[in-house]
Amino acid sequence: MQIRFADARPAGDFALVLPAAGKNRPGVQSLGEERNSVEAALKRSRFDGDSGSVVEHFLAGDNGRRLLVIGTDGSSASAAEKLGGNAVARLLTSGESHAVIDLAGLGYDDDAAARVALGAGLRSWRYDRYRTRLKDKQKPTLSSITIVGGGKGAKNRYESRYAAVLAGVSLTRELVTEPANIIYPETFVERVKESIKGSGLEVQVLGGEEMAKLGMGALLGVAQGSVREPKLLVLKWNGAKAGETPVVFIGKGVTFDTGGISIKPALGMEGMKWDMGGAGAVAGAMKALALRKAKANVVGVCGLVENMPDGNAQRPGDVVTTMSGQTVEVINTDAEGRLVLGDAMTWAQKNFQPKVMIDLATLTGAMVITLGHEFAGIFSNDDKLAGNLMKAADESGDKLWRQPLAEAYDRLIDSQIADMKNVGPREAGSITAAQFLQRFVDDGVAWAHLDIAGMAWSDKASATYDKGATGYGVRLLDQYIADTVEG
Ligand code: BES
Ligand code: MN
Ligand code: ZN
Repeated sequence: MQIRFADARPAGDFALVLPAAGKNRPGVQSLGEERNSVEAALKRSRFDGDSGSVVEHFLAGDNGRRLLVIGTDGSSASAAEKLGGNAVARLLTSGESHAVIDLAGLGYDDDAAARVALGAGLRSWRYDRYRTRLKDKQKPTLSSITIVGGGKGAKNRYESRYAAVLAGVSLTRELVTEPANIIYPETFVERVKESIKGSGLEVQVLGGEEMAKLGMGALLGVAQGSVREPKLLVLKWNGAKAGETPVVFIGKGVTFDTGGISIKPALGMEGMKWDMGGAGAVAGAMKALALRKAKANVVGVCGLVENMPDGNAQRPGDVVTTMSGQTVEVINTDAEGRLVLGDAMTWAQKNFQPKVMIDLATLTGAMVITLGHEFAGIFSNDDKLAGNLMKAADESGDKLWRQPLAEAYDRLIDSQIADMKNVGPREAGSITAAQFLQRFVDDGVAWAHLDIAGMAWSDKASATYDKGATGYGVRLLDQYIADTVEG
């Protein structure tokens, strides 16, 4: 989608989008001759300007121009994004190729106007690579949007910040959408490398042998049932002074999770192609930070494995030794994400001595039972970090809700034979998973674990995404860095 900003509506053919904040409809009021018929159409449609409500009308003049009046909650950042997204949702395959969104008279500042563009860009993302028989009518037609009546700085705000965020979210969605025969550890790495070319990100990749030398027995135990070699992908962005310790992001990248020998039921198993949503978000966030040249040092680590059942797969009851030296009794091979993350966290702390470490993972079905698809859960050993992340969640729209950690939960994963087991009882499943991860956090490191199991994928469209991969986490991490490291 091509995005432009202008002071006035351009000449020529376009669909016109006029926002209405409740009864405040400056765009409609300035319509001149056609105002009455548009007001009548709004009345007949019982349009009250509620957020997201849309009335479509064709003008008598201007060659029958299509007009969309879209209700908004005002000009807050989130309302602005929804407006852009709602407009695109209506127009993407409508036959129109150009849209003008006229914000005049509604008090949008630079940031809000730029976020109309972000919402529009986010909602226009789709992945048609494998749809070879799409009818013309199903194909997108809308290719450019002009935003009129935002502030003078809107264009710069969009280009210096949100265009990068959009590119990052798009990469995440692509990685999450691709099936597991296409994206597995090695091709995840290749796809990311290709996508970040020229961004200035530094890339390091560890293969199976190197990880074996380092003693990453938990990550390798998960990978050993698959013919796909595991990888640890490391993306480094040095946008601040050398020597400033980086913030570290860690992502769960299980490119397919069958459950392993503790195999999952068939129904819905295809969804486990998106069990790399944490790693996808980390890759997307790193791309966004690099493209917008964030003044921060940040490292993203993606633990990439495939969890398969096989003659060589690990068995329930196996004991593995992690890179930290701690041993784990693998009670359930389907609790594999924590095994991957534990070793990735140890490796990251040894190599970068971070003060802050944030992991993202589609870690537990229990998290989906707890929070559904509205919030990801955040577990943290540090109130300041948790607070900053929750603030970034509010600002970015990638919502978070805090969950508890406590000694009593930690006791539930003690093992008879090893230092810990990889599952607790059925109760509090996402908390015991977080407690497991906490055992891999070094003293003095502020750590947060984001369980995004309910957020990486959506069965329903929203204002800023269609059904499918949401790109959850990219905007959150970008905002966190902007607020706390750059701010
Ligand atoms: N990737 C799954 C978690 C998951 C399940 C994410 C459903 C999204 C939707 C994870 O690896 C897993 O299988 N977790 C188990 C843990 C259990 C064996 C303790 C789960 O949640 O059932
Ligand atoms: Mn699993
Ligand atoms: Zn998993």
